[in-house]
Amino acid sequence: MKRLLVTGGAGFIGANFCHYWCSTHPLDRVVVLDALTYAGNLASIAPLIDSGKLRFERGDIGERSRVAALITEEAIDTVVNFAAESHVDRSLEDPATFLRTNVLGTQALLDAARGAWGADAGRRGCRFHHVSTDEVYGSLGPGAAAFTESTPYAPNSPYAASKAAADHLVRAYSHSFGLPCSISNCSNNYGPYQFPEKLLPLCILNILEGRPLPIYGDGQQIRDWLHVSDHCRALELILAQPAASGTWNVGGSTQEPNLTVVGMVCDLVDRAFAAERSLAARFPSCPAAGGRASRTLIRHVQDRPGHDRRYAVDSTRIRERLGFAIGTPLAPGLEDTVRWYLGNEGWWRSVVSGDYRQWYARQYAGKVGA
Ligand code: NAD
Ligand code: DAU
Repeated sequence: MKRLLVTGGAGFIGANFCHYWCSTHPLDRVVVLDALTYAGNLASIAPLIDSGKLRFERGDIGERSRVAALITEEAIDTVVNFAAESHVDRSLEDPATFLRTNVLGTQALLDAARGAWGADAGRRGCRFHHVSTDEVYGSLGPGAAAFTESTPYAPNSPYAASKAAADHLVRAYSHSFGLPCSISNCSNNYGPYQFPEKLLPLCILNILEGRPLPIYGDGQQIRDWLHVSDHCRALELILAQPAASGTWNVGGSTQEPNLTVVGMVCDLVDRAFAAERSLAARFPSCPAAGGRASRTLIRHVQDRPGHDRRYAVDSTRIRERLGFAIGTPLAPGLEDTVRWYLGNEGWWRSVVSGDYRQWYARQYAGKVGA
């Protein structure tokens, strides 16, 4: 039985992880620590809180003594760190916030765990797992081999640089202080509860509301799409290994250009409207409500500065050593995701109100006439 502190558990992947973990490990203790930034949403884990399956604490990973006290009070033996600023475009506007949370926050969290667990953390079976990204490895050319665990770091955005710095700190705390740490670097996740600033939910909601779909540059940038449920299963496999197992790459083994994936989402929405007449009344601005193709909303807009062209993750290590396999391929995964946003309008309406609408207008005005 584990006692987990899940930081960033009200965000996209953290919330999915909490749902997964509480259903597959019902005897474990799960405590979520989340600052509830714009990206955190209590509604994503409310059923777990209300049913007593987890304890929620609002707080910042940078508050070292408070976090150490929480680890001690709850006798936490496993920290899973999802907490981060996660959007590349925002890191181009405001790098300092990314350094504060992703670098200094991670360092404070490492210190909190080290202080609370003491020198024999490893012997007592304690574990600090840090969730990182494939973006630390930089960008790949068209024929280049996928990132392995030994690919040199070459982060290109302030976000990626802050995640790379955090990874180095985790490694250094393990090496210098013997803190039992592991790291996973995964590719682009998609699925339920993803904040609508990210490409796929942004496109789903824009289609439903009849807004343009902003494709940066030529749309031929390649991402390695991973359904979030597969990421959660990968984390479960990794957490069952000793901390000394080190670094694990987790990819979706599905390299697709942005334009292809957005086209698939358009077609899925069109098919959903054709199959269910009530959707036209709920979303009258959606092209499909008037029998038009959602693809007509696609607009090529100014590219993201320094935009990484291609990511691809080599998952050989986790596949061969831990038996990891993709359970949700892209086509059914996207279908489930579109269905989830259609079925959870209350969730996304509550997260896209106010500040987000203003940020969206600033971000995309002049690009697509947001
Ligand atoms: P997200 O932005 O949806 O959620 C981040 C969560 O962290 C939010 O709930 C937010 O409130 C919380 N948070 C932010 N700053 C905090 C702080 N200082 N203290 C406590 N909580 C704080 O992010 P996500 O997409 O769920 O990503 C989770 C982790 O996975 C991040 O570390 C990210 O770098 C990494 N990752 C994400 C992806 C992806 O495709 N989304 C891929 C690879 C790695
Ligand atoms: O690779 C893992 C990373 O994936 C994570 O570490 C990040 O936290 C996560 O945000 C994601 O980063 P990306 O930059 O790849 O995701 P995003 O959804 O922002 O963009 C996906 C691709 O789509 C990217 O090539 C940029 C493009 N894009 C994005 C937006 C928001 C567009 O063309 N238009 C858009 O409006």
